Amino acid sequence: MPLIEVSGLGKTVADAGATPGQAARPLDILHDIGFSLESGETAAIVVASGSGKSILLGLLAGLDLPSRGTVRVMGQDLAVLDEDGRAALRSRAIGFVFQSFHLLGHLTALENVMLALELRVPEAGQHKMSYAQARERAVALLERVGLGELSGPLSAHALGRRAAACGARPRLRH
Ligand SMILES: Nc1ncnc2c1ncn2[C@@H]1O[C@H](COP(=O)(O)OP(=O)(O)OP(=O)(O)O)[C@@H](O)[C@H]1O
Ligand SMILES: [Mg+2]
Repeated sequence: MPLIEVSGLGKTVADAGATPGQAARPLDILHDIGFSLESGETAAIVVASGSGKSILLGLLAGLDLPSRGTVRVMGQDLAVLDEDGRAALRSRAIGFVFQSFHLLGHLTALENVMLALELRVPEAGQHKMSYAQARERAVALLERVGLGELSGPLSAHALGRRAAACGARPRLRH
C-alpha cells in the first residue's frame, strides 16, 4: 500500500487578485495532480515559486481541502474524515518542517520537540506516551541533530540552531 496516493487532485480558488469592483473569477492553482509514494521513498517538488507547492503540501496533510480528486494517506481517504479525524491522522503520520519555523520562542528546544508528542492523538487501543518516555525520545532526537546541550528559551539561540530544532520535531513521528 502506498504511503501517499494522490489522484485527479485539483484546487480552484476565487482570485484574490481581482481588481476592486470586479467579480472574483475562479483561479485554477492545481490541476489533475496524480502520484504515489511508497514507504522509504524521497521526493522533491522542484518548480518555480508560486506554482502551488505549499498548497499541494497543505492538501497532502489535510490542512486544506481539494476542489477535486482524492488524497489517501496510509490508505485512508482524507475526504471521509472530519477536521478532528484529519488532525488525529496528521498528529500520528505527518511531520512538517515549515518555511517559517513555527517554534515557540519562550519554550526550550526540548519543550518544543516534546510538545508534538504531548499533542499526539494515540491510535485506538494505544496509550498516550508518558512524560518520561516523551522526554527520553526528545533528548535522543536533539542529540542526533547536535543540539543535546541546548537549554533556555529557544529565542536566545542563533537561527541555524532554531532551524535544527525545527528539523528534530517531525522525526517524532517515526
Ligand atoms: N485566493 C487566491 N487568489 C489568488 N491567488 C492565490 C490564492 N491562493 C493562492 N494563490 C496563488 O497560488 C499560487 C500558489 O501558491 P503557493 O504558495 O502554493 O506557491 P509555492 O510553489 O509554494 O511558492 P514558493 O516557492 O514561493 O513557496 C501563488 O501564485 C499564490 O499567489
Ligand atoms: Mg511555498
